Amino acid sequence: MSSRVETFTTTAPAKIILFGEHAVVYGKPALAVPVTSVSVTVTVTPDTVTRLEALTTSAHLLPDNLNLDEITDPLLQMIVKTAQFFGEALPACRFSIASTIPVASGLGSGAAVSAALGRATAKALGRTISDPDLNALVYDIERIHHGTPSGVDNTVIVYQKPVFFVRGSPPQPFEVKKPARFLIADTGRTALTRESVGDVRKLYEANQAKIQPILDEIGTIVDLARQALSTGAIITLGHLMWSNHRCLQKLTVSSPELDNLVHAALEADALGAKLSGGGRGGNMIALVTPDKEDAVAEALKRAGAHNIIATTLEAS
Ligand code: PMV
Repeated sequence: MSSRVETFTTTAPAKIILFGEHAVVYGKPALAVPVTSVSVTVTVTPDTVTRLEALTTSAHLLPDNLNLDEITDPLLQMIVKTAQFFGEALPACRFSIASTIPVASGLGSGAAVSAALGRATAKALGRTISDPDLNALVYDIERIHHGTPSGVDNTVIVYQKPVFFVRGSPPQPFEVKKPARFLIADTGRTALTRESVGDVRKLYEANQAKIQPILDEIGTIVDLARQALSTGAIITLGHLMWSNHRCLQKLTVSSPELDNLVHAALEADALGAKLSGGGRGGNMIALVTPDKEDAVAEALKRAGAHNIIATTLEAS
């Protein structure tokens, strides 16, 4: 074991996908942004053994259980993989995870925990990990959670910047002419992204001729949304959100709760609204103007939103 660590913390934000979820798995682009008002914090403190404490996990990492084949817990895997990346033994310390990001609701909670743990492990070893290296490690862990993730979640969370993302390519920044304000509303229903992604895969395999045009349409919507953001065409952006939501409905990943919140937001004069992330539950997002923000938030609460987070995509 290496020398005693000093107490420190690392953090990682949540994320929302503005446009392009699901189609991104099939090589189409997506636009995603970090959400910093909720986050994961990992606190590292000196201890007598290497230990991880999270809500669902409390485990010792002993030198003889550092074999990745024997560790099934993704959080422990992240710590061990990061230490192995540097080829160094883990120091004796306690990793404690605290998170304000709702789980299984499309906000990237799993990727954020992995990112904060990876940074914490590197720092405990007296090293810094680059964003591309951390991103690759977090992606490996995402594969345990999701099966075949596109990589959009880990990328936006690790880089902590708005990204135009295409699977397999380095993330690109995108231009934002005017700030855009979003409300993120939680249906209160958790849903597994792995399942909705698996169901879309089944639909695709059963009827590619029907599903491919929907994926293509989402790809076009993402390109138009990128243009709208770069020219400040906020009204167009709102219409594109609704078009994207319609496509996601056709892919069967919306739900009555999500549709209900989307309609409530639009009726209260949100400029646009759509589900965000894997769907079937989790969160939806609404684009609002300052004068309508409170009314839309009220309408969302009345329609059953469990929690509402506001976030601004700042001009670049
Ligand atoms: O549910 P989330 O926030 O993990 O988002 C998943 C996004 C999908 O496009 C549905 C899947 C993926 O791997 O990109």
